[in-house]
Amino acid sequence: MVTEKYYSLSEAAEILGKSKETLRRWDREGKLHALREPISEYRVYKREDINFLLKPLFDELDIETDNSEAPIKEFKVLELFAGAGGLAIGLEKAGISCVALNEMDKWACQTLRENRPHWNVLEGDIKSFNFEKYRGEVDIVTGGFPCQAFSYAGKRLGLEDARGTLFYEFARTVKEVNPPICIGENVKGLLSHEKGETLKGMISILNEIGYNVVPVKVLKAINFKVPQKRERLILVGIRKDIDVKYEYPRPYQSIYNLSDALKKGKLYDTDVPKSEGSKYPQHKKDVLDLVPPKGYWRDLPLELQKEYMGKSFYLGGGKTGMARRIGWDEPSLTLTCSPAQKQTERCHPDETRPFTVREYARIQTFPDDWKFAGSISQQYKQIGNAVPCNLGKEIGYSVIKFLNDYYLSLSKPK
Ligand SMILES: C[S@@+](CC[C@H](N)C(=O)[O-])C[C@H]1O[C@@H](n2cnc3c(N)ncnc32)[C@H](O)[C@@H]1O
Repeated sequence: MVTEKYYSLSEAAEILGKSKETLRRWDREGKLHALREPISEYRVYKREDINFLLKPLFDELDIETDNSEAPIKEFKVLELFAGAGGLAIGLEKAGISCVALNEMDKWACQTLRENRPHWNVLEGDIKSFNFEKYRGEVDIVTGGFPCQAFSYAGKRLGLEDARGTLFYEFARTVKEVNPPICIGENVKGLLSHEKGETLKGMISILNEIGYNVVPVKVLKAINFKVPQKRERLILVGIRKDIDVKYEYPRPYQSIYNLSDALKKGKLYDTDVPKSEGSKYPQHKKDVLDLVPPKGYWRDLPLELQKEYMGKSFYLGGGKTGMARRIGWDEPSLTLTCSPAQKQTERCHPDETRPFTVREYARIQTFPDDWKFAGSISQQYKQIGNAVPCNLGKEIGYSVIKFLNDYYLSLSKPK
């Protein structure tokens, strides 16, 4: 069987974002026909069949969805773990004012200050700040706290049990500020972290400090005008005295691709500005030279596949992100904090190099005039860590809608 023309079951599942079991069922039901490898009898899928299934994503036009919502008064956010400001920019674009941002990385703080001299950047470890002075001053507390395990004793977790973790600091701040709504943001992996116990603990802690958690959702950035297949888990807490429903932003139908990110078009008025970027080491470049757009390590000659993948070659699984060259007509795979790192290469479609800093920023939907401080690798890190600005903006609209409804409900006679 010629592997360049086929995907294995796990590769097809990964590309389509479905489970292997779903694909097996589709095969049984005749929805997506699989062929069988002659010797192993494993299912394989024709690449053209998989690409055909992805196509409607790119073609559909967006007619009905518009999440935008104007605030009825000034709404203020305290943004924790602010990084280079991806979420903060998005919230600002939606119409929310940033009252203060906390971040401990000095380069990220410099980025925030240089771009928004009027923002109140609180530089330093969150542990050293007390946020009580923002009580009653802030409508929203947001934060992408890094995910850490708690120690369990098989009981319902309370705030004190999480002491020492950054989620504790997030929850402590929410408790000090007591806003109507808080939003935690994290990687999708939090769903399965410690078999789901970590997330369960977070929900029970928010409950203890007076917040009901809306059923957790993973938002796909591609559904929110971001040309990248990034996913973020959103944890929304609503103060318990409030009887107003929060609704997640509705997904848009049109999907943007790399061409929309880097070329003049629907997302940007100009082609991407020139900028610095890192390079691949020579060996990696020689390997990636052999990979076509939308291709990956499977497109290499067999011997080179084995050499490049090392042990991973024998471990099975799709690993479609390794030695990957992105195509112009697809969204980018998730950007990481370092663009030349093994296992997650996302090569430029026409040139054998990683995306430049400004290309990275575009794929994360940062504005072109947002400058990043520090060395090139510091800049990549700040961009790779961010919530895509366009996703942040849609989250912002959903919060504005909630706060509008909340403040209007206060003024209605009971
Ligand atoms: C995932 S990034 C947040 C990205 C940001 N929300 C954005 O959209 O650009 C997490 C950030 O938390 C910061 N951080 C980690 N530990 C911290 C601490 N103890 N105090 C303050 N900031 C911290 C990191 O420096 C990093 O910038």
